[in-house]
Amino acid sequence: MSQGSIFPLEPWSIRESGLNLDLLARSESLFALSNGHIGLRGNLDEGEPHGIPGTYLNSFYEVRPLPYAEPAYGYPESGQTVVNVTNGKLIRLLVDDASFDVRFGRLLEHERVLDLRAGTLTRYADWESPAGRRIRVRSTRLVSFTQRAIAAFEYVVDVVDGPVRLIAQSELVANEPSPPRSGDPRVAAVLENPLVALEQDVHDRGATLLHRTRRSGLQMAAGMDHHVEAPGEVTMESTAMEDWARTTFVCTLEPGQRLRIVKLLAYGWSSVRSEPALRDQVAAALTGARHTGFEGLLAEQRAYLDEFWDGADVRLGGDPELQQGVRLSLFHVLQAGARAERRSLPAKGLTGPGYDGHTFWDTEAYLLPVLTYTQPRAAADALRWRHATLDLAKERAATLGLRGAAFPWRTIHGEECSGYWPAGTAAFHINADIAAAVTRYRSVTGDETLEVEAGLELLVETARLWISLGDHDVDGGWHIAGVTGPDEYSALMNDNVFTNLAAAHNLRSAAEAAERHPGLARDFGVTVEEIAAWREAANAVNMPYDTDLRVHQQSAGFTRLPAWDFEASRDQYPLLLHVPYFDLYRRQVIKQADLMLAQYWFGHHFDDEDKARNVDYYERRTVRDSSLSAAIQAVTAADVGHLELAYDYAYEAAQIDLRDIDHNSGDGLHIASLAGVWIALVAGFGGLRQHDGLLSFAPQLPDGISRLSFTVEWHGRRLGVDIKPDRATYTLRDGPDSSLAFHHNGKEVSVTTEKPVVEQVSRRSPMLPRPQQPSGREPMHRGEAPSSWIAAGGVAPAAGPGIGLPPR
Ligand code: BGC
Repeated sequence: MSQGSIFPLEPWSIRESGLNLDLLARSESLFALSNGHIGLRGNLDEGEPHGIPGTYLNSFYEVRPLPYAEPAYGYPESGQTVVNVTNGKLIRLLVDDASFDVRFGRLLEHERVLDLRAGTLTRYADWESPAGRRIRVRSTRLVSFTQRAIAAFEYVVDVVDGPVRLIAQSELVANEPSPPRSGDPRVAAVLENPLVALEQDVHDRGATLLHRTRRSGLQMAAGMDHHVEAPGEVTMESTAMEDWARTTFVCTLEPGQRLRIVKLLAYGWSSVRSEPALRDQVAAALTGARHTGFEGLLAEQRAYLDEFWDGADVRLGGDPELQQGVRLSLFHVLQAGARAERRSLPAKGLTGPGYDGHTFWDTEAYLLPVLTYTQPRAAADALRWRHATLDLAKERAATLGLRGAAFPWRTIHGEECSGYWPAGTAAFHINADIAAAVTRYRSVTGDETLEVEAGLELLVETARLWISLGDHDVDGGWHIAGVTGPDEYSALMNDNVFTNLAAAHNLRSAAEAAERHPGLARDFGVTVEEIAAWREAANAVNMPYDTDLRVHQQSAGFTRLPAWDFEASRDQYPLLLHVPYFDLYRRQVIKQADLMLAQYWFGHHFDDEDKARNVDYYERRTVRDSSLSAAIQAVTAADVGHLELAYDYAYEAAQIDLRDIDHNSGDGLHIASLAGVWIALVAGFGGLRQHDGLLSFAPQLPDGISRLSFTVEWHGRRLGVDIKPDRATYTLRDGPDSSLAFHHNGKEVSVTTEKPVVEQVSRRSPMLPRPQQPSGREPMHRGEAPSSWIAAGGVAPAAGPGIGLPPR
C-alpha cells in the first residue's frame, strides 16, 4: 500500500477491511451500485447502522416549493428533489433472540469488496451474538446492467455454533426516515414521507408495493421475490402493510449448516402508466430474472463489463494507486450512464442525495466526453433526454425574454430548479456545452442519426439563444454581456472567454448542421439570413486580452479587479461556506477552471506563449473549491509542459471520493471529477483532441507513470493508444474500414488494422517555471496525503468504533 492510501491497492477492486462506523456514509457512496436506472447506496444488508439510507430511481422526484425572501420576476417557483424510494436492500437476521447488528455482540471480521469486473458488492461478516452464538454472513449484490429493472442479492448464513434458530426478514420499506438536513447548501432537501401508498400485493415468495409521490404525481412499484435453500424445513411467509412488506424465513441449523436466500428485486415507475401496468411490469421483470437465476445474472453482468472494459479500460504502468482510482472512476461513470436511457445523468449519479439529485452541465462537459469515446450509445441517449426537455427550455427562454432555448442550470425533469440567479440561470454556457456535446458525438462516432433526430434542433435553438443574448458593437465585434462562466466566484460578467468561444462554436456548428440538412433546417424555420448572422457573430467573437500582462482575461476587466488575500483565507475553504459572495465576485479569486477550460476546449484560439502565461496567471488565483477543476487544470498544465503538476491534479481528481477530499462524499460521489480522471489522463497525458473532425494526440508522460494505454472509439472502430516515455504505439481494431488517419504531434499518421504504427514521444519543455497555487490550495502531491487534509477529517484509514482487521 502506498503512503496514505486508504484501501489496499488492488487493480480491479476496492476492498474495505474492518468497519469504521464514522465513515459509513462515504463507503455507502463508494460502494453504491447502479445501472443508471436503479441506484442502491452501499447500505449494510440489515439497514442499520447507516450514514444515509438511499435507493433511487433515475428521474423519480418530488416537487417542493422554492420560497424567496424577496421574490422577483423569472425566479423558479418550485424545485425538484430526488426521492429515496422503497428500500428493497433490507435483509434483517435474528440469531436465536439476537438481531444481527454490528454494533452489538462481537464483530470478529468484516470485509466489503466492490469488484469492478464482476459488477458486484460482496460482504463478509464473522459475528458472535451477545449470547455467544457465532455465524458467518456472506452477501453478494448487483444492480443488473443487462436487466434494467432488476437488482439481486445472495445472502448466505453459515452457522458456526449451534444449534441455532435463524429468522431472516427480507423487506421492502417505503418512507424510511432520513437523517437531519445539514447546513451545506450542496446537500439535498430532506423530504419527509414523500410516498403515498396505493396498493400491496403479497404472494408466498414475496410482495409488491405501489406508491405515488404526493405532488409530482409519479407512480412506482417495487417488487421482491425469493428463493431459499437450507437443510431441513424452512418456513417462509410474506405479509405487507402500506409502507412495508416482509418475507420471513425460519429454520434451525446445526454447526456447519447453511441458509442461502436469493432475493430478486424489481422496480418500475411512470408518470403515465396505470397501477396495473406498473405492477405487471415489475412482475414480468421478476419472472425474467427468476428465469435467468442468480448465477445467470452474475454471468450476464460479467459479460457486460468485459465488453465495457475492453473498450474503456485505462492501463497505467508505475502507479497502482492511480490505476485503481481510474478504474473505480470509470466504473462509476458507467454506472451513472449505462442504462439511463433517455433520462438525466445527475451530478452524483444515483449514489446519494447530494445536490437534490440534480443534473448540471457536468453531464455534457465531463461525463459525455468520456462516454462518447467509450460508450457512445449512452452518450446519445443522454442527449436525447436533453432534446426531450427542449419545449421546457424554449418556454424558459421566452420567460426570460430571449429567443431559442435556455436549458436549466440544474434540474431533474427539465424545469429550472436553481433558485440562485447569478450562478444559476445566468450560467448560460450550459446551452453551448450541450451543443458541444452534440457536435462531439457526431465527430467521434460519425453517426448522423442523432443529428437528424435531435441534434440539429438542439443546435438551432441554442444558436438562437446566443444571438438574442449577444450584441455587435459599432466596429462589428460580437459580445455577450452579463453572464456567468464556469467560475462561480465571478458572476454576471461581460465577455466571459469560455462562454464567448463556446457560443461561437455553437453558432458555427448550428450553421454547418443546418447546411447538411437544409430540408429539416427549413422545418425549424432556419433561413439563409439566419445562418449568415450565426456565422457573422461567431467570426466576430470578442476575446478580452490584457495587453500589459499579456494574458487573456477570464472575462472583460477580470485582471484589473482587486486581488484576493489568499493568505488570510487559507483556513476558509471552501470559500463559499465562509465568506460572502459579494466579496468573491469583486475580486480575482477563481472557484474552478474557466479560462483554462476555454484553453483546453478551444486551444486553437490561443498561441503557445499565451497558453503558458495564462496557465501561470490563473493557477495562482484558482482555489479549486469545485471538484470539477482539477482534471481541467491537469490538461492545461500538461499542455504547457508542467507534467508533474498535471500528475498531481490527475491524482487529486482520482482521489476525490476515495479520500473524501471535499468532506462530502457521503452525500454521493463527484461523478464529474471521476469522469475527469479519464480526461486528465487521456486528454492530459495522451493529448487527445478532436477539432474539425480530426482526431489528434500529443502524448507525453510524467515521471512516475511508465506507461499509459487506453482505447477510444472513432467512427465505429477502436483505436488503442499505448504510450511509453519514448514512443507511442497506435493499434486499430474492430472496425468496418481498414485504416484511420489522425495526427500525432501535429503530423498526419495513418494506421491500418493490419499493422500498428509506432511514433516517437518526447516531453514539451515548459516555457515558465511551475506556477504556485493560492496558499493552502496546492494540489496533493502524488502519493502523499497532506496532514492538513487528514486533520480536517478527509482521510481516516484506521478503524473507528467498529474494528480494523488486516485484509483476508
Ligand atoms: C460547481 C458547478 C457544478 C456543480 C455540480 C458546483 O460546485 O461549481 O460547476 O456544476 O457543483 O457538480
